[in-house]
Amino acid sequence: MPAPWWQTAVVYQIYPRSFLDTNGDGVGDLEGIRSKLDYLTWLGVDAIWLSPFYTSPMADFGYDVADYCNVDPLFGTLDDFDQLVADAHGRGIRVIVDWVPNHTSDQHPWFVESRSSRDNPKRDWYVWRDGPADTPPNNWIANFTGESAWTWDAATSAWYLHLFLPEQPDLNWNNPEVIAAMHDTLRFWLDRGVDGFRMDVVHAIGKGTDLADMPPDLNRLEQTLFHDYPRTHDLLRDIRRVLDSYTGDRMAVGEVYILSTARVAEYYGAGDELNLAFNFPPLHAPWDAAAWGRRIERVVQELDPRGAWPTWVLSNHDVVRHRTRYGSEARARAAAVLLLTLRGTPFLYAGEELGLEDAVIPADRVVDPGGRDGCRAPIPWNSDDSHGWPTTETWLPFPPDPAHRSVAALTDEPSSILHLYRRLLAARHDSPALQSGNFALLNGPDSVIAFERSAGDDRRVIVVNFAAAQVAVPLGELTVEVSSDGAGEGAAYSGVVPASGAVILR
Ligand code: GLC
Ligand code: CA
Repeated sequence: MPAPWWQTAVVYQIYPRSFLDTNGDGVGDLEGIRSKLDYLTWLGVDAIWLSPFYTSPMADFGYDVADYCNVDPLFGTLDDFDQLVADAHGRGIRVIVDWVPNHTSDQHPWFVESRSSRDNPKRDWYVWRDGPADTPPNNWIANFTGESAWTWDAATSAWYLHLFLPEQPDLNWNNPEVIAAMHDTLRFWLDRGVDGFRMDVVHAIGKGTDLADMPPDLNRLEQTLFHDYPRTHDLLRDIRRVLDSYTGDRMAVGEVYILSTARVAEYYGAGDELNLAFNFPPLHAPWDAAAWGRRIERVVQELDPRGAWPTWVLSNHDVVRHRTRYGSEARARAAAVLLLTLRGTPFLYAGEELGLEDAVIPADRVVDPGGRDGCRAPIPWNSDDSHGWPTTETWLPFPPDPAHRSVAALTDEPSSILHLYRRLLAARHDSPALQSGNFALLNGPDSVIAFERSAGDDRRVIVVNFAAAQVAVPLGELTVEVSSDGAGEGAAYSGVVPASGAVILR
């Protein structure tokens, strides 16, 4: 059986607000994405994942959904969405949409009803607990605010739970009506032809009913492990059945924000829960061969035995871009070689192919309560004053050096990081070994991660040098297929990998 598309694909994450504006309000929109499909085809991505574009008051920029089955006017219309899917599919690009099942917006009609009275039929759709008004029901802390995860609702004298902002009340997945209604929201988009979902904080949906206190003094790892409920696995099996009732290999990739690869592996179930799960420990790994080596080994140990297919991510809309975290373009380039050659499905974040750094956000332009504006800066398309956007008044400032770090400028520069990404994607497409082959670590110097990918006769060797000095890694007679600095491609491998450099050899 050939591997399913979501195992061989390279997925490209688009944060719609920041991709491209077409109507001059300074905020990106669906039409902006559609108008750049030729660029994505040229780059060679197989699928796009769109962060939320649904009706929302934007307290968390769309991760607070007020209508799961509509497009916010800021981004366009359902017709624009249908056109985008049709045009993407016409180019062979799959479309994955975000699904936010843990919480809605406090403006969602379900919550408006739920909070309207204690005997409203939707009361039990959210997680309510009685007073006293001066003591929250447990000691849980909300993300972003660092304050209690409970907000007191004076009108009905009760607390409601929100693992994120008070404007994001948690749904009660112990209520069968909630389950049915949320399954319907999946069907709505499946019927419109989407190829899959990225499921937001999906590990936290199946809370227990006791809502016990967290032990005090948990470190960050232990806190993320706390929201890891057995019930979620039942819920995921049901969700998977909804997806599998459709033809065409629809997929679910879950944001399982648990910093333990062993626990993340459980979310694949026995092949009957998530198709893919994000594994965030590598995202937080420093630029260090030993640190990355450990993360890779954990994935091999935990996922391979259960037939679970890995994912790899360096950047997304929640963390500082890896170009900024790693501190140089040479490292960002070498990291791209690693990302696109490890065994698993790579997820790119729009703009990393330009080597974008996080934007510097002046205090008066900060908008995100979670402090994530820097990685959400608009994509520069060309060297004009407004960088291809219809206005210079964009919702966030551009990243550093936008004239040079624009799609147009880097397209004209064959040695640019943009062309490196394009060559890497092309190399993957041409190689069963890179797309789905076996993985074996090779011995090498301490500063190096070296491995072999193989599928039948197809074989590639990858070497990534994390050190600030060149290193000798003799590997016999091989040819350089791709090098992170572009040097020596097509020539015999010299046995030396440059400082902060990486090569694909064949
Ligand atoms: C996820 C999203 C993040 C959002 C949060 C709450 O972590 O990636 O952007 O703020 O969930 O929905
Ligand atoms: Ca717009």
